[in-house]
Amino acid sequence: MVQLTDKSIITILGAGKMGRSIASFFSEKGIFTILYDPFEEAIIFAKNEIINQSRLTFTTNLEEAVSKSDFIIESAPENLDIKKELYQKIAPYLKSDAIICSNTSTYPLLTLSKGQPFENRMLIVHFFNPADLIPLVEIVKQDSTEEGVLEIVKSFLSYCGKILVVLNKDIRGFIANRLQAALLREACYLLKEGIADASSIDTVVKESIGLRWALNGPFEIMDYGGLDIWDKVLSNLLPVLDNTTTVPEVIVEKVKQNKLGAKTRDGFFSYRSDVKSEEILKQRRLLKLVSEVKNS
Ligand SMILES: NC(=O)c1ccc[n+]([C@@H]2O[C@H](COP(=O)([O-])OP(=O)(O)OC[C@H]3O[C@@H](n4cnc5c(N)ncnc54)[C@H](O)[C@@H]3O)[C@@H](O)[C@H]2O)c1
Repeated sequence: MVQLTDKSIITILGAGKMGRSIASFFSEKGIFTILYDPFEEAIIFAKNEIINQSRLTFTTNLEEAVSKSDFIIESAPENLDIKKELYQKIAPYLKSDAIICSNTSTYPLLTLSKGQPFENRMLIVHFFNPADLIPLVEIVKQDSTEEGVLEIVKSFLSYCGKILVVLNKDIRGFIANRLQAALLREACYLLKEGIADASSIDTVVKESIGLRWALNGPFEIMDYGGLDIWDKVLSNLLPVLDNTTTVPEVIVEKVKQNKLGAKTRDGFFSYRSDVKSEEILKQRRLLKLVSEVKNS
């Protein structure tokens, strides 16, 4: 069984938003990291964006990317066909004991791993954007996962400074995205019903519950608020909350119009390029500060 140490080679497949920040995270920890993308433009973009490249190499050659690697994290687009095709392509090049992980946001591990030759050496490691600043990684294993694989990945990611939560079941969306999806659905409902505009709804979250969530999870919040109070609040509110199971119309419409958010400079809000980069820098500084204070 492979051992993951500071001498190991890590490969990140996909140099998009997440792949770039995961690669930055490991290389800044002094781990030799290879960042692969099939598109030259994505590699050029990554080279321009990533500041510290001392332990990082870039490639568009898949064999070169994975053949010496001990730990591979797939961060290709959230599209099952693309991910599965990529697994088939890497399989012949892999070291026999390499550990393969996916950074998928939603697919269950079984859906991704079924039938792959490395099925028993595959896990989900779900990082958060930006991966070099947000401490948590959600991990999913399955019954057939080879003995030792989970422990090796856990001890390596802890060594690199991550906070880990291992799920007891292989469930779609894991924990954080399920919680987040419930909130986003209700936010879109409030917008659709004209209760407040998008900016006001954002302000409510940022200036109230969002501040608390950096310090307390939902169960602590229920305990501190008093379970008798939450008993009443939930019995009054749950019957009137949105419970539709389709994507809110407002999102579907914006996607149709290619208003994809900050990356196309138009979404719920409009973004000028200079405002966007200032805002991102401000957010990065704040996230770093909050995470340092919390974990000090
Ligand atoms: N964006 C987030 O906040 C976030 C957070 C956690 C997890 N994720 C997950 O991470 C993964 C990547 O998301 P992203 O936001 O970085 O997407 P992205 O669209 O920014 O990047 C995807 C990258 O994959 C590349 N790519 C395309 N085909 C490929 C292939 N065959 N092999 C390897 N790379 C290929 C693209 O060129 C692109 O650079 C997805 O599974 C997503 O669900 C995203």
